[in-house]
Amino acid sequence: MENKIVIANLKMNFTVGELANYLKGVGDIESPNLVICPTSIYVPYFLNKKFKVGLQNIFYKDEGAYTGEISPKQASSMGVQYVIIGHSERRTILEEKDSLINEKVKAALNNKIIPIFCIGETIEQKSMLRTNRVLAQQILTGLRDIKKEDFEKLYIAYEPVWAIGTGEVPTNLEIEKIVEYIKSVVSEHFGYENVKVLYGGSVNEKNIVELEKVPNLSGYLVGGASLYSDKLKMIINKVVKA
Ligand code: PGA
Repeated sequence: MENKIVIANLKMNFTVGELANYLKGVGDIESPNLVICPTSIYVPYFLNKKFKVGLQNIFYKDEGAYTGEISPKQASSMGVQYVIIGHSERRTILEEKDSLINEKVKAALNNKIIPIFCIGETIEQKSMLRTNRVLAQQILTGLRDIKKEDFEKLYIAYEPVWAIGTGEVPTNLEIEKIVEYIKSVVSEHFGYENVKVLYGGSVNEKNIVELEKVPNLSGYLVGGASLYSDKLKMIINKVVKA
């Protein structure tokens, strides 16, 4: 089986001064299975190391009059290999819709950038037993018109909104069943078997031991804990087998 990946989502953290210390901490990590996604203006500090670099968002056009946006073509030309798309913070705070997210996924793939496509239910949706319906809707619109062969490249990150930054994590059985459901939706609607699914939401250097028992995950998306290089290293060591 392919090695799992760990995506470090640094979100909007670190001044340049603070970054120096963090870079020292992660500088000696040698792992093609680690992808660090810093604030986009910091990308050059993270390139040319022995891990990979991703963005936390991307625009859906390659170039032109789009003030303030970041083009997938430009990102690719710099050496960015991954991009997080449709994170719940962007869906909520910036009101990103499934159809916009779909454009971004396609633009990333067109530029050979691997999308980390995020989906997840809110606590209200979960308590109304609507989780599966919500996830299916996000997948069907967010991945509309994606070619079968592109499913080989992309990752779907299952991030329950109620688990992000809260310290709460679903049970292993809940994660396993939802991952199975996600794979079945993709298989039924896009004809691609066994799409790679990550788990994200309060993953840390302690609960990773238990999470590693979930049999059908391809890796993790880590926020808060990834801001500490020692914690990030502990997570990678538990997940990526030599
Ligand atoms: P968290 O964030 O690990 O801090 O819960 C995960 C994410 O938002 O991707």
